Amino acid sequence: MSNKESYHIEFGEVWVRGLRSDSIVDEIKSRVNIVDVIGQHVVLKRAGSNYKGLCPFHNEKTPSFVVSEQKQIFTCFGCGASGDVIEFTKRYYNLDFMEAVEKLAGQYGIELKQFHSGDSQKREQLFELNRMAARFYLDAFTKRANPGLDYMRKRGMDPQTLIRFGIGFADESWDSLYRYFMDQGADVKQLMELGLISQSNGKYFDKFRNRVMFPIINTRGKVIGFGGRVLGDGTPKYLNSPESSIFLKKNNLFGLNLTRQEINKRDCAILVEGYMDVISLYKAGVRNVSASLGTALTENQAAMLKRYTKNVILCYDSDGAGRAAALRGMDILRAAGCNVKVMHVTDGKDPDEFVKKNGADAFYALAKEAKPFADYKIDQIRQETDLSTMEGSLEFLRRVTAVLKSLSPAEADLYIGKIAAESHISEGAIRMEVFGSGLADAREVREPVKPAQADRNGDRRNSANDPGLYLEKNLIRLMLAQSDFIPRMQPYEDVFRDAACRRIYENMKGLYREDEEIDVGKLADSLEPAEIAAMNDILENVKLTERDEDVFVDCVARIEREQLKQREQQIIQMLSLADDETDAARVEELTRELMTIQHKKNRE
Ligand code: UTP
Ligand code: MN
Repeated sequence: MSNKESYHIEFGEVWVRGLRSDSIVDEIKSRVNIVDVIGQHVVLKRAGSNYKGLCPFHNEKTPSFVVSEQKQIFTCFGCGASGDVIEFTKRYYNLDFMEAVEKLAGQYGIELKQFHSGDSQKREQLFELNRMAARFYLDAFTKRANPGLDYMRKRGMDPQTLIRFGIGFADESWDSLYRYFMDQGADVKQLMELGLISQSNGKYFDKFRNRVMFPIINTRGKVIGFGGRVLGDGTPKYLNSPESSIFLKKNNLFGLNLTRQEINKRDCAILVEGYMDVISLYKAGVRNVSASLGTALTENQAAMLKRYTKNVILCYDSDGAGRAAALRGMDILRAAGCNVKVMHVTDGKDPDEFVKKNGADAFYALAKEAKPFADYKIDQIRQETDLSTMEGSLEFLRRVTAVLKSLSPAEADLYIGKIAAESHISEGAIRMEVFGSGLADAREVREPVKPAQADRNGDRRNSANDPGLYLEKNLIRLMLAQSDFIPRMQPYEDVFRDAACRRIYENMKGLYREDEEIDVGKLADSLEPAEIAAMNDILENVKLTERDEDVFVDCVARIEREQLKQREQQIIQMLSLADDETDAARVEELTRELMTIQHKKNRE
């Protein structure tokens, strides 16, 4: 798939960029007057050179919604909504960019075709082939008796729901779909790209056989792929269309074509794992539901949901895999700015089983009790740590702190009392960790990660504003200049946190010979490109002085001071956790150590 093709996504900025260069946007803006479009929905009154009305995007009694005919934009001074005619259409009808463009183009008789490149014509052909295949499977499912329909009925599905989702059946024969397409004069290469047809030993055959077919339909109503469920217990249970230029799993959610209105109306989306969960919930009357396509939730899917609601409830299976997926999905959704809660069904292994047994009301009642993400994470951490030991408590505190730090201070505060009560860690200690600079080293506390940022910025630190890294680089520079610093470094070698610095140091240790300087060329041979780059950076940018010995001694002293400080904090922490009676001996030991440290510090 060429790079260009992969840009054709049904939503998002990429499309937008591609379109802008084709100037559809300009065409629409030059042909459509924003005052007319908005005037159809909002009573607008002239106010100077602008128009004013009641904002359709929030409740108000006095107009603060202004439309400028000159600039062709709208702005609401009450809620801050603003944009051009496409933005208005997007918001007003809850459409994505492309849908809004299509709607306006349709209303004002603007031909979209002329803006389509050859690529998009090919895409239209692929969509059409998928649509034909879906139709073919649907006919096989509805027009004659077949084991697919029997299977779905046995699972409690009714014809209405099945038809709404366009469920079909791929029969057992090796090539019925292939022959159908050949009769229609379809291009076999395109069928193979869509994963509908395979080739083996020069013969073509149908990829999906003897399976119930779930068409995957995007929010623009295009069939982009299929999931096929085996009848009974064969493997794979679900066979899915391969990714293609029109099917990118990370950009789509199953069922959203039918459920987004309801998601918007209820201002809440329930996200489940499977096709059957979606359909079964839908049938029972839980219609604000969707599923990721058998893969972990992605940023794009989160952004997509957020167009309809900020509130997402993850309802994954209760097994280990489902819990792990919930924990991962949570971070993605949080990073996208969603409010996340998690529920697991209590009766049955998945939402499908639960709702069949207990009905929609019971399901919604359970959803009402869904755990806010912080509670869910803290529960998880509690299960993974042993609160009966001091080390366990410290770990618990460290990890919980990371979760609380991602909340607003007010939110975090709500949890602190609760956690203190059950973990026997003092509220003060927790508060210090969350709001102050506690012992937990900022470099270690990295959860939850904002995925987008972590990817883009990587983990590179900058010595200009990171004294720790500056120290590491200085020490490397000194050892490169004078190898007898290498053995003297050993007791303090934990100081190397930066991956490159650590490797350079380790390899220098390996090359060290008494009374010989390090051969920088040899050292480079033992390093990865990124590490060599780091080493060159150090050689070039870290200045040596006449007084290497003083600098080294100074560095070491700083490390020692830092270590003492950290140990001091750690002890204070441990003491705050300890129970005076049961841990009496350990408390005494720690107190003594603390006194020694403080004594040392005072002498300096
Ligand atoms: P499940 O195994 O939980 O599926 O996988 P399910 O929907 O409950 O299936 P039923 O009820 O037995 O029919 C959850 C989802 O993971 C993907 C599918 O998207 C499925 O809906 N999956 C699962 C696959 O893609 N392939 C598989 O082999 C299994
Ligand atoms: Mn299931």
